[in-house]
Amino acid sequence: EKASADAEEENDVEKVAHRGAAGYAPENTMAAFDKAVEMDSDYIELDVQMSKDGELVVIHDITVDRTTDGSGRVGDLTYDELRKLDAGSWYGEAFKGEHLPTLGEVLDAYEGDMKFLIELKSPSLYPGIEEKVNDALEKRDLDEAEEESVIVQSFDFHSMQMFHKINDEVPIGVLTSNPKDLTAQSLEIFKEYADYVNPSKDEVDRDLVNQIHELDMGIMPWTVRAKEDVQPLLDAGVDGIITDYPDYIPED
Ligand code: G3P
Ligand code: CA
Repeated sequence: EKASADAEEENDVEKVAHRGAAGYAPENTMAAFDKAVEMDSDYIELDVQMSKDGELVVIHDITVDRTTDGSGRVGDLTYDELRKLDAGSWYGEAFKGEHLPTLGEVLDAYEGDMKFLIELKSPSLYPGIEEKVNDALEKRDLDEAEEESVIVQSFDFHSMQMFHKINDEVPIGVLTSNPKDLTAQSLEIFKEYADYVNPSKDEVDRDLVNQIHELDMGIMPWTVRAKEDVQPLLDAGVDGIITDYPDYIPED
């Protein structure tokens, strides 16, 4: 039985810091993850892609152009090339010198203090990324961690089915951006391999939450950037809220 049934009454909603606390520091950097810890988040959400030479790197866009001082596609650059980039200055001078973290670096830094919502971003560009992420989790025994300390999610349903085949101990989330993916039939199909259905916040109402809970799955909508968007999601009974501003979520 999922704890989610009690979530509304006790307000024990999971506070998920989107790309770290991306409202307060450059997204997907150690500075943003530190902020998430400071703000008593439960999870950090992070986006994982792969360098040309197979290193798992934490970055949202498929190019480095927006969030670093470099240019080009993540998958066309080696880890050494990626590591040299400044991933902080675009956000503010105070963050100059932040770099693109590796997945391992983030897991090692926060394991035990934080839970991880790991998004595989555009995994079809990176064949083998599911195996590599699973290896990183297994190496740290995080694939068998209790209380869902790691959830792996993606908009790519095929990739999530693959991940579930590789390791059925790791909870899987499907990210949806299209209401067509939230029909009763779609939810039944997700249930075959997923533990969470994480839609855009704009699609969430009590009925959707109930349908997902009836299938014994959880729901963590994205992405809250305005205070007034919090209460309706709490009222709908969601299990977690993915937000750039973790301090907008009331304490347990
Ligand atoms: O965790 C869900 C959310 O991060 C999905 O959208 O574009 O921010 O990765 P995006
Ligand atoms: Ca994401």
